[in-house]
Amino acid sequence: MNNSDHNHKFSLTSPLYYVNGIPHIGSAYTTIVADTVARFHRLQGKSVLFITGTDEHGQKIQRTAIEENLDPQIFCDRIVDSYKSLWSKLDIKYDRFSRTTAPGHQQIVNEFFERVWSKEDIYLDRQQGWYCVSCEEFKEERELIENHHCSIHINKQAEWRDEENYFFRLSKYQQHLEELYESQPDFIQPASRRNEILNFVAQGLKDFSISRVNLDWGFPVPVDDKHTIYVWFDALLGYVTALLEPDQEPTLDNALSQWWPINLHLIGKDILRFHAVYWPAMLASAGLPMPKKVFGHGFLTKDGLKMGKTLGNTIDPFDLVDRYGADAVRYYFVKEIELGKDGDFNETRFINVLNNDLADVLGNSLNRTLGMLKKYCQSTIPQLTSADYSSDHPLKSIGMDLGDRVVQAYENLQVSQACEAVLILVRAVNKYIDESAPWKLFKQEQQAEVEQILYAVLESVRLSAYLLSPVIPTTSSKIYQQLGFDWDFNHQEEVQADKDFQIHSEWGKLSTNKTLGKASPVFSKLELSPED
Ligand code: MSP
Repeated sequence: MNNSDHNHKFSLTSPLYYVNGIPHIGSAYTTIVADTVARFHRLQGKSVLFITGTDEHGQKIQRTAIEENLDPQIFCDRIVDSYKSLWSKLDIKYDRFSRTTAPGHQQIVNEFFERVWSKEDIYLDRQQGWYCVSCEEFKEERELIENHHCSIHINKQAEWRDEENYFFRLSKYQQHLEELYESQPDFIQPASRRNEILNFVAQGLKDFSISRVNLDWGFPVPVDDKHTIYVWFDALLGYVTALLEPDQEPTLDNALSQWWPINLHLIGKDILRFHAVYWPAMLASAGLPMPKKVFGHGFLTKDGLKMGKTLGNTIDPFDLVDRYGADAVRYYFVKEIELGKDGDFNETRFINVLNNDLADVLGNSLNRTLGMLKKYCQSTIPQLTSADYSSDHPLKSIGMDLGDRVVQAYENLQVSQACEAVLILVRAVNKYIDESAPWKLFKQEQQAEVEQILYAVLESVRLSAYLLSPVIPTTSSKIYQQLGFDWDFNHQEEVQADKDFQIHSEWGKLSTNKTLGKASPVFSKLELSPED
């Protein structure tokens, strides 16, 4: 692949979610952010591969299926349907849905295992320790709380295990990993999480077990079918299987030929170690190139409290999107939570943010201007361009380099800052309308000034809608349509082209002399509504 190909391609993954239950708000959060990032890259005209999917093997899933009296595969299929339905409700446009029970995955896992085996990086030994089935992870005694309960799944007791397992020689890759973190300084982000991993690795890496006994929901170890491959070893490779074209033979070479290495693994902080330590070491053992970046986002709380089924304060993403719509949910989680930090969900705050930013500020600025355009300009956009405004004009001065700043923010995964930068322009619009009072100028028959004002406002709203379209595609489409573009940001193939991005991300490029139709609200105010 040459360099220009590289700049035109972007591959990213969400985690492959466990199917022990229907999706929760944590999985929705990661997926919304990943979708926003994917949409931003598509908007720039790149070829994007956005992978999401499900992690279906292991003890946790097997036990849940047994509790539900279902065959594990049937149980998984049901839960997968609920993931797909939530992603559709939230306007998530993934390119691949990777299931670890999909045909072809086992061949990929076996081939990978054999590569690592032939490097002599796998050996049989005795594993003793506390195992948290909910984490699917052995825990150090110091990581557990009272009564050997897991600190993440506080109502679950870790189980004592003493068994023979196959181990992966992680310790052999200590130096390799340290060199990776040094030579690719933004491999792990954000910086605070990178430090945590650096400290963890500096303490010395221990080999970890990659097989389980007394478990049959998974793939047998190719060299010893009394053992089942550990669910994480299997799941991480789901990212690789996802790269195969539907009709391609499932070989590692085929899978890796087009899209590898992945540009971004977006995950939550709880599974950073698997992605930033175990995964690169496994890849190094198999002789494969490293992913470009692993970003560990923070955790959500509700009304300031840790969420959990036992606490009874979970947020149901289906209910939220049914009551308030996809754009509202997407906007809140992207804009109100700084990616990388923990963030809170509070329903009153949710409503206030949405009503303020999208209804009062963004929606209203378009609505009132289209009203004036009708009255003062027969609904025709004045024939002006950026060149007709001085660079200290209150809106042009903000809009001029806004596209560049927002691109920078999205590229650095500062998605909240990207929204905030746009909001500065939209807030300035309302202030500018009030201060320049085009209604007065119209009465004084200052038509040229009136046109100057209205064009500047419409162009600022258009630019804002364009730059926010990865976050609020439906609202942005409504704005674009009212400004005379036959666009739907949910059908990015129609929008996508390098040329379009250059034009549409700049202030003062709105094609002029269009006659616009009737204004209608682009975002209706939300009201606090009872949960189901
Ligand atoms: N199956 C593994 C991932 C394998 S990837 C090869 C897994 N699945 S999960 O379903 O448990 O992951 C859920 C995702 O949701 C993780 O990124 C996790 O960090 C995230 N969240 C779970 N609870 C969360 C919050 N309360 N807040 C934000 N995200 C949280 O792990």
